[in-house]
Amino acid sequence: MKKKISLIGAGQIGGTLAHLITTKQLADVVLFDVAENIAKGKALDIAQSTSVDGQNINLIGTNNYEDIKNSDVIIITAGVPRKPGMTRDDLLEINLKIIKQVAEGVKKNSPKSFVICITNPLDIIVMAFQKYSGLPTNKVVGMAGILDTSRFKYFLSQELKVPVKDIDSLVLGGHGDTMVPMINYTKIDGKPLTQMIQKEKLDLIIGRTRKGGAEIIKFLEKGSAFYAPAASGVEMAESYIKDLKKTLPCAAYLNGEYGVNNLYAGVPVVIGKNGAEKIIEIDLSSKEKEQFNLSIKTVQDLYKAAKNIDKNL
Ligand code: APR
Repeated sequence: MKKKISLIGAGQIGGTLAHLITTKQLADVVLFDVAENIAKGKALDIAQSTSVDGQNINLIGTNNYEDIKNSDVIIITAGVPRKPGMTRDDLLEINLKIIKQVAEGVKKNSPKSFVICITNPLDIIVMAFQKYSGLPTNKVVGMAGILDTSRFKYFLSQELKVPVKDIDSLVLGGHGDTMVPMINYTKIDGKPLTQMIQKEKLDLIIGRTRKGGAEIIKFLEKGSAFYAPAASGVEMAESYIKDLKKTLPCAAYLNGEYGVNNLYAGVPVVIGKNGAEKIIEIDLSSKEKEQFNLSIKTVQDLYKAAKNIDKNL
């Protein structure tokens, strides 16, 4: 049976997701956007690429929520991206309104889907989506940790002149300037990172990772990163659809894990056919724990700000 992925938001990330899903032949694609013609135009353009590459994938563009019915996966990028100088948190009010509409559309038309949120500020938007839609917490996750980890690994690979595939790492916590690269957990070809890099260089790379999105926004001037965010979202969708049970850093609902309650934040999660099947609790050093708790505090503070905007959250 062919799978179906609906993409809510057909902007930069949505279009790239549609193209990646098509080239990987993962599923048929519904591109949904309030800007109907953008969704239709991108769907048609990518559909025409399938006769070059030979994929048997159907794509449609729409602004009708009924078209997302019975999706296996829904990936949400609907919202406004950052402009130069903005933080992800500056998007809170506008993107909360948008996610409320999206949650209503998903709840009504495809409540059994596995939902991956990408819209920023990520940890709060994914939480708001879950609360507004009422979908089970194991079926609602946020994409951030894979992206942050891939940025960290890329910068390390450039500095240490090693292939990215030889690096194992994890970046956890909130998707913002307080995210926490797990240094003790990071291995280069199986060897501890700390034995291979000077502290000053590592600190620079950690700082660059935390500002990884802003660096790209500054270059692009219009819009924010989309290739790496889309690749990261597809990895999550694929692990669910193919029941790969990969352990991936994702924003997941914490119910006591890592000492955190009733909050979404970045932790390692097993993604398989039941969605977020298990949260893996890795041992943190006291410094990592301190940094993780600080990052959680920033997410909690933003959640309070969200509740001031909508007390139903
Ligand atoms: N319903 C559906 N789509 C919407 C809605 C809505 N209520 N409101 C806006 N959109 C659409 C826009 O029409 C636009 O096509 O969302 C799309 C967003 O695309 P871009 O502006 O290109 O943004 P993108 O770079 O894809 O990022 C989307 O992901 O990483 C985050 O910070 C980023 O929050 C931003 C989101």
